[in-house]
Amino acid sequence: MPAASSGYRYDPNRVAALVDSYRHGGPLPRAFYVDPEIFQADMDRIWSRYWLYAGHACQIPRPGDWMTWSIGHDSIVLARGPDGAIRAFHNTCRHRGARFCTAERGHGRAFACPYHGWSYDLEGRLLTRTQADFGVPESQLGLHPVQLRNTAGILWIALADDPVPFDAAHADLAARLRHQGLDDAKLAVGRRYTVGANWKLVFENNRECYHCPVAHPEYVKGTYDVQRSVPRHVAEVQRQTELANAHFRALGIDTGDAWSDMTGAFWRAHRTPLMDGWKSQSLDGRPVAPLMGTFRDRNTWSDGTLRTTVFPNFWQHASDDHAVATRITPVDAARCIVDVWWFVHKDAVEGRDYDLASLMPFWQRTSEQDWVICEANQLGVSSSRYVPGPYSRSLEQNVQHFVDWYLGELSGRAPQRAEAAA
Ligand code: FES
Ligand SMILES: [Fe+2]
Repeated sequence: MPAASSGYRYDPNRVAALVDSYRHGGPLPRAFYVDPEIFQADMDRIWSRYWLYAGHACQIPRPGDWMTWSIGHDSIVLARGPDGAIRAFHNTCRHRGARFCTAERGHGRAFACPYHGWSYDLEGRLLTRTQADFGVPESQLGLHPVQLRNTAGILWIALADDPVPFDAAHADLAARLRHQGLDDAKLAVGRRYTVGANWKLVFENNRECYHCPVAHPEYVKGTYDVQRSVPRHVAEVQRQTELANAHFRALGIDTGDAWSDMTGAFWRAHRTPLMDGWKSQSLDGRPVAPLMGTFRDRNTWSDGTLRTTVFPNFWQHASDDHAVATRITPVDAARCIVDVWWFVHKDAVEGRDYDLASLMPFWQRTSEQDWVICEANQLGVSSSRYVPGPYSRSLEQNVQHFVDWYLGELSGRAPQRAEAAA
């Protein structure tokens, strides 16, 4: 099997044949969810070419703060330098390659490799003198940089030297995200899960709310995701959406509707109204933290949320007073790690301004309910009798969009769409 430059090994002809075997209108064949070779192709074609959500800038707020993220073969260090700028590097020493950061986060003025003690500053420069004994000047042995973008406080890295274009996504996302105050936030709490499901099943699950009435008793109380497709509720949802949009316009923010369509080929940021009387995505709709961003500046609530989704590893639901972000990290064909992070205003104090007991449950329960059904899905698609069934034309079109995007990127055949259908 040939190895791609990313180091992942798979047979492109076999992958192409499997892509060709896909029947539009339903989920992927079994191999895409269970086969280690497809997993290698995913890592090469998707995860090594796309912009990946690494975390929020506020997770490393002070100069000297750093965090690491391991993805596939690679580990990335994100560090805030003395100038306040965040940079990303490959976590591999330029001497004999040791991983020099073994912790997940830390603070300091330099990185010291645990093997022979070479040290690097926060801008990636080698501080150890190498010219005399090694015959190579230290200026040529800086850490390998990793491309990094910061979109209104959200950090993306790209493992490839020539990743997919991101400018349009950045502009579209930034225009909406800037209202949420995420560059003025702090991490309140996080939960990490190892989910026994292929990363695509986890994302497919995120792309529809057909399962919500069955799986999410808390979630469906606060949003119109389900009502919008029930004929007797359509007029009410439309009325509420128009009211919400008038309110959004008065606040000078973007408008949206109750349908969560994509705004771009692999991304979307979409404002939706909460149900009448709800302020925030909490169990009872009441506020759970101080206002953030534009809403803090204006001291008013929008009574909506901004949903942001970026393939292949990010989604976030931002209320006016907090945001909950999800990061997927694939482990193998049948597992991924999912981090769920809750953000609040940077000055909010736990116990005084917010309590985890009211901040967390809405998305903690909804997320954990999702992992249960994703794991059931993985077990079922592993069955020798699994045959892809049909998608709903009205409730699973966003799943179809995800699958179409995925297969196009995997085969390298589909032109990247500049704009998806509204
Ligand atoms: S491998 Fe890092 S100092 Fe030798
Ligand atoms: Fe769900």
